[in-house]
Parts: sequence; C-alpha cells; structure tokens
Amino acid sequence: MKAEINPNKIVVLSGAGISAESGLSTFRASDGVWQSHAWQELASPEGWRKNPQAVLAFYNERRRQAWEAQPNPAHLALAALQDAYEVVIITQNVDNLHERAGSKQVLHVHGELAYARGQSAQAKRYLIGGAPISLGQLCEDGTQLRPDIVWFGEEVQYYAEAQAHIASAAKVLVVGTSLAVFPIAGLVKHARYHAQKILVALDEMEKPWGYTFMRGKAGEIVPALAQTWLAQAGA
Ligand code: APR
Repeated sequence: MKAEINPNKIVVLSGAGISAESGLSTFRASDGVWQSHAWQELASPEGWRKNPQAVLAFYNERRRQAWEAQPNPAHLALAALQDAYEVVIITQNVDNLHERAGSKQVLHVHGELAYARGQSAQAKRYLIGGAPISLGQLCEDGTQLRPDIVWFGEEVQYYAEAQAHIASAAKVLVVGTSLAVFPIAGLVKHARYHAQKILVALDEMEKPWGYTFMRGKAGEIVPALAQTWLAQAGA
C-alpha cells in the first residue's frame, strides 16, 4: 500500500556538496577527500582493524574542520522552509550543519561526527560534539571507542524511515550528491510520480527519471527555491 502524499511535506536528500560552500571537502571531485585519502584504509572495518590510530586521526581532523565551519545559505534556507512546511532532511553528511542552521528533522544515514560508540552489540553511543576520540578511550563495554560513522560495507541507518518519508513527500529536493553510493542513492526512485522532484548539483550528472536538474551552487539555488516555495505557501 503506497503511502499517502502529504501536500505540506518537503523531503531533502543532501550530500557533501551542500557543505562545500561552508568550506568542507566533497569526496569525488578532483580535490575530493577520496582523491587524497584511501577510503579502504580510513573508512572501512578492515582499515579500522589494521590501523585504528590512523582512522581516529582522520575523523578527528574532519570533526575539527566541521566544527569550525558555519552553515551556509543552503542549510539556512532549508531551515527557513520549516515556517511553512514539514521538512525532513535525509543527509549522507556526518557534519551537523543542518542542525546548526535550525533544521529539526535530520536523519544521518551515514552516521554523525558528533557521536562516538563502542564496538559490541550492546555498545553505547556517546555525544562528543567536536571533541577528538583517542586510542585507549574505552566504551563502558570495554571496547575502544570508534567514530559513529557508517563505513563502507556497514549497514546504513534509517533506510526504511527515509524511504517512507520520500514516498510521502509532495516535493523532493536532492542536493549536493553524486548519487554514487548505494543503497542511499536508490532512495531517489521512491519519490512519487506526482511529487515535484528537483536535483541540484555543480557537475553535469545523469538525473533520475522525473527529476528536474538545476546545475549550480546550492548556496544560490536552494535559497531561491525556498523563497518560491515559501511564497507558494503564502508564508
Ligand atoms: N553546490 C551544489 N552541489 C555541489 C557543490 C555546490 N557548491 N559542490 C559540489 N557539488 C556536488 C557535486 O556536483 C557532486 O554531485 O556535490 C556532489 C558531491 O558528490 P560526492 O563528492 O560523491 O559526495 P556525496 O554524494 O555526498 O558522497 C556520498 O560517499 O564517501 C561516501 O560516505 C561518503 O556520504 C558520502 C557518500
């Protein structure tokens, strides 16, 4: 049974590109994170087993940069849409810029830099904010604390919830993602035929069926879009 479309609901799927204008690197651009770092060594369970110190240092540096960064006009515009719409943000990003911009419903499907966790099944999650994790810092379960990030090969979070949100959205905005990483990239096909579907990116890319492609900077396109949608809602 397909979910009912909520005419007042906007669902956003964001990726690294929405934080680019806040000064945080994306992954697959020529100056991207995976051009200068090997994800196999720094964002995989194998890499963690081989060299936890290198993985902790990598995420401590990314956390430091993310906490120094500021939300940009794209993050702020999405938060402003909450004045007139129910806005759910499904983000692949592990920074907290959506929350700091004022977004209230944010699902981090690839985890969050703001948390550390243990490694056992009953591991606890600890809010660490911008603080580093060091080798020897243990969870209550006795295991070494690790970043609460979904590494390649690990189960993503909130997938079913994210799919249900997209299937019930009147407007779906995909912004700043190359749609290169599954299963999250597959979420875009759950947007409904009658929903307004927009894809915003800097580079030319193959757009999913039914989406309007708007090429340009999120910091320029998203505020303009939000203004139009707020005017439509009479806000
Ligand atoms: N405005 C809008 N889009 C932008 C901007 C910008 N200023 N800068 C870059 N982009 C777009 C690029 O055109 C590209 O489509 O953002 C996208 C970035 O793609 P990736 O670097 O692949 O980042 P992302 O899609 O978020 O990666 C997905 O891969 O490595 C994993 O877990 C990591 O969550 C990440 C996932």
